[in-house]
Parts: sequence; structure tokens; C-alpha cells
Amino acid sequence: MADVTMEKLVSLCKRRGFIYPGSEIYGGLSGTWDYGPLGVELKNNIKALWWKMFVQEREDMYGVDAAILMNPKVWEASGHVTGFADPLVECKKCKRRYRADQVGDLSTPLEARKCPECGGAFGDVRQFNMMFKTQIGATPARTTDNVQSGGDDASATTYLRPETAGGIFVNFKNVVDSFHPKLPFGIAQIGKAFRNEIAPRDFIFRVRELEQMEVEYFVYPDEWKGAFEAWRKEVYRYIDAVGISKDLVHELEVPDGERAHYSKRTIDFEFDWPFGRKELYGLAYRTDFDLSAHAKASGAGLTMTDEEGKEPLTPHVVEPSFGVDRTILALLISAYTEDQLGGEPRTYLKFNPAVAPVKAAVFPLLKNKPQLVEKAREVYALIKKAVPQTMWDDNGNIGKRYRRQDEIGTPHCITIDFQTLEDDTVTLRNRDTGEQKRISIDELASHVA
Ligand code: GLY
Repeated sequence: MADVTMEKLVSLCKRRGFIYPGSEIYGGLSGTWDYGPLGVELKNNIKALWWKMFVQEREDMYGVDAAILMNPKVWEASGHVTGFADPLVECKKCKRRYRADQVGDLSTPLEARKCPECGGAFGDVRQFNMMFKTQIGATPARTTDNVQSGGDDASATTYLRPETAGGIFVNFKNVVDSFHPKLPFGIAQIGKAFRNEIAPRDFIFRVRELEQMEVEYFVYPDEWKGAFEAWRKEVYRYIDAVGISKDLVHELEVPDGERAHYSKRTIDFEFDWPFGRKELYGLAYRTDFDLSAHAKASGAGLTMTDEEGKEPLTPHVVEPSFGVDRTILALLISAYTEDQLGGEPRTYLKFNPAVAPVKAAVFPLLKNKPQLVEKAREVYALIKKAVPQTMWDDNGNIGKRYRRQDEIGTPHCITIDFQTLEDDTVTLRNRDTGEQKRISIDELASHVA
């Protein structure tokens, strides 16, 4: 942790194909990042691990993948149209805009703070809604024809979803009707969410297009505390499994007045980022706020009957919410290591093999020896069949290949050399120690798997 800076991480991510600035050849687009070939593998591994732990390995969980575009009434009912806003201030002199809670010395009142760019004074704070608006359908001018056929009623303003939770709440009734679950049970979703951040910053930490992994866990109203504690432990189980350094994670009990509008209790799991201690994950007790609001606004019955099958009740909700992009950033920071190997400085990513984007790399010792290359291709095909996230690498000399694979966090490097041609053994190199051992090709696939 002491050695990692955002500059080093951003540079490694771009150089090695993890993460690139969004729309880069056009000068970029603030708050957007594109995941490259290694970034997308890392991201898929992180999501697959989450889905396995919280959906597939449990009996009480149901997965959904809802549309990002939703009826705008969803966001009116959920309180996002009125309540999902950040405080915005504008410099009276240069007109630059900032988040009021992020600009200048926060211990002094806003009137005493100055614009960091030009030293100008700030105007009044306004609430800036963070949802992106978009238009559904065509918006033709009203003609006699389309007025008669209902006019432009097919067009409406809606929003890109600001949280995946909305898609879960509107499918509560569908899942209950299809599967008849008993309380407690949960619905999970992984997907994109969009927030028109006033000041995107800190690489993939604060972005305008993000990905979330969320669970809405439905419980009897008087059982929310037990569920809250159980999910608190599950958050740590995931932190451990994915490979985030637990000693960099700290809980913050979010005080009254600072929680989201729907929450009666929130714990932020904060992380020690190079730019300060800020939120990684959240755990919220959303009460029956959402189901009651959607029932009222839509007219749908969003209740369940109790154990005796008599009284209809509206379940309460505990919500663990995980950001995919923040998971990736926390993982990169946790994994980033600088050390000396064989007297040479090196950088490597100490990824947990379960999430490493490349599990093994296969090299011929020399790329101009056809016998070695042919044998190495055979070994590569064998391993790749057992472990698809296996890479072929014959660029540069063997030392350079090891450095490159270390820098992307590949746990195993397999080299085919002249001894391989004699006894069907290869060298298997350990990323963290640099130690090599000989292993028979027969054992290799199961070892790497
Ligand atoms: N669903 C919680 C959040 O998006 O922050």
C-alpha cells in the first residue's frame, strides 16, 4: 500500500490493457472509462465470484437482469426524482461548478471558501439531480394524424437507472408469483447504473457510468436486525474471497441526516484509498420504503402473507450494495506490490488466482526453435482447454515475459525448454516467489485448474 499511487495504477492499467480513458481518441469523456482485454476478464471474474457466492450457492436467492430503461414513474415513486441530488455551487467569477461538500476547507462555511481555480466567491448552494434524463420514442411535432392516433404519447422523458435496486423492486411481484418463496429471501442483480456526478474524479472511483452488484433481501419487519448482521458478515466474506486487504476496510455508521432518503440505518464499508478514506460498499436497512411506495404508485399488490397464511404484510428490506468498479480499484490497490527479485526491482499484482485475468501463461523458451514452439503450442492447447484464461506469450526474452506476466498478476508461468523435449516436464514458475519447479505435463492442467 505504501508504494502505490494513483498515477502508477492508472499508468499500469493503460499500459497493460486493463482500463483506458473513455472515448480517448476524441479527447475523452469525463467520468467514463473503458475496460480493455484484461480489465474485462478481471471484471467478469469478480462478478462471477459474487454471483456464485450470493445467488448460485444459496437457496434463498433469485437473480434478475432488468431493463436499464424503466417507466419514469419508478423513479418518482422511489423518491429519486425529488431526492437523488448533490449540492452544487458555482464560482461567481469563473462559473466553474463544484460539489459543495467537496470544495475547499470543509471546516469553514461556504461563504468563507474560495474557488480553487480563480479564488472567486461561491454563489448559493443548489440541489443538482444526478439522474441522466433521456427521451423514449420519437417526439414528432403534433400533426393531425398523430394527434388522432394518440399524438406523441409514445414518447416520454425517462432516466438511465441510478441504482440497479429499482429493477429488483419492480420485479418483486413477478419473482413471488413465479417461485412462491417464503420470507426471508433475496433478489440479486448485477448491472450498469448512471449518475451525473458534478465532479467525477479519482480514476474509476467516482464515475458517471458504473456497475453495481446489489441484493434486496426481504424479511419480516421484526427480523431486519438479524438479516443486517448476517449481511454484514457476508460483505466481509466477499472482501476476503475476492482478495481485498481487510486491514484497509473500516466501518462507518452513517449518522442521521446523512443517509440516503430511503434508509433507516446504513453502514458504509470504507476503504483507505490513496486519496483518502471513502466508501467501498454500503449496507442499508431500507424498511418497507420502496415496496410501499411502488405499491401505492402502481396499484400493484406488493405484499406477502405471513407464516400462517393470513395477514398480508409488506416485507422490509436489507440491501448490501457493491460497486464493481470500486471493487476493481480496491483489488488493484490491495494487489499492487513492488519488490526485488534476483537483485532487480519489479512490480507485480498479487491477485487471488480466482480473480486473476490470466491464470497461466505458456512460453517456448526460444521462439526461433520450431521444435520448442510446436511442443509449447501442444501444452498451451492442453492447458487452455482446462483453464480458458490461459495466455500464449513469445514476445521478447524470457525475463521480459516474466516481468510482463508479473505486472498483470498471472499466478503461473509455464516454460517449455529443451528438457521438455526429452522428458515431458516443463518449468512452472510461482509469481510471488519467482521460484521454479519442474512438473510433468500430465499433472500440469489439474495443477493450474
Ligand atoms: N442501491 C444503493 C446505491 O445505489 O447506492
